[in-house]
Amino acid sequence: MHPFAQDLLDWYREMGRSLPWRGLSDPYPVWVSEIMLQQTQVATVRPYYHRFLERLPTIRSLADADEDEVLALWSGLGYYSRARNLHAAARRIRDDHGGVFPDDYEAVVALPGIGPSTAGAILSAAFNQDHAILDGNVKRVLTRIDAVLEYPGRTPVARQLWRRAQELTPPGRAADYNQAIMDLGATLCTRNNPRCGICPIRGHCQAHAKGIAEDLPVRKPAKAKRVRAAWLALVESPRGLLLERRPPTGFWGGLWCPPLVERETEEPEEAGRALSRKFGGTFSVIECQPAFRHTFSHFHLDLVPVRLAWRSGGPAEGDWMWARPEDRDRLGLPAAVAPWFA
Ligand code: ADE
Repeated sequence: MHPFAQDLLDWYREMGRSLPWRGLSDPYPVWVSEIMLQQTQVATVRPYYHRFLERLPTIRSLADADEDEVLALWSGLGYYSRARNLHAAARRIRDDHGGVFPDDYEAVVALPGIGPSTAGAILSAAFNQDHAILDGNVKRVLTRIDAVLEYPGRTPVARQLWRRAQELTPPGRAADYNQAIMDLGATLCTRNNPRCGICPIRGHCQAHAKGIAEDLPVRKPAKAKRVRAAWLALVESPRGLLLERRPPTGFWGGLWCPPLVERETEEPEEAGRALSRKFGGTFSVIECQPAFRHTFSHFHLDLVPVRLAWRSGGPAEGDWMWARPEDRDRLGLPAAVAPWFA
């Protein structure tokens, strides 16, 4: 047995949590608990688990129940497709497996709602079969043990973690080992506050050795932000600078701002023409200023300020005004464009 597994099992014997679905050889309650625990914490699951099994104590009773009743027993746990899959799987077991939960990995992983990790968790817990698991807790522990510096959601990294999980799972002891590594992840090796000082396996942990446990696992890389391009139309008149109220939805919603005009060409006359269509009158270009970028949570806004003069006609009725620099603080312009209003 790998010394890591031995240390973990020694710790589990002393410190492991006593949970109602542990030590059971009936796969049905183990299965129900694993499905409930997929996206929900132990403390929330406990009362639901008891109520569910009291009402539906066997696979057959679950298979024969109305879907409405199953969903009612799930009400408050969230992710209701879990309940629908559980129900559908029970019917499949009733119809195709004589009502007996299969003890064969391929048959189990073929059931609705049961992926490779959940299949491993059920078969190891109920039958002590030698299957590894790789749920969120285990992923976190393993990325720290090996100081994996890449995002574990990437397929090659996930494959490597599965291999490692299989390597470390001690043959003949998977039942306890899998519960132990889940407990370690849930109680000590937590996302934000890993308690390395009292961790039983810190001597095997590369992230601890390097002092980077808190930085792992690497978070999902942010998606590349979209770039939007606009003219920032600085329209001058003797009465001040033209401001319009931004539409209530979208960025800078409801704020007063010099008009933003979608920028599809390099020609600042594009801005003048768009303003004419919107406000009437004619707008002639005075000059362009250097472009600048303002970054929002989901996109970059690349703005080219263009000074324009209002020639004739001009703004009709609408959510707009002429404003003077003294009005700036009262009006609440977006901070990114406020400097242009001076
Ligand atoms: N999370 C998922 N399965 C679990 C289990 N069997 N014990 C504790 N936490 C879990």
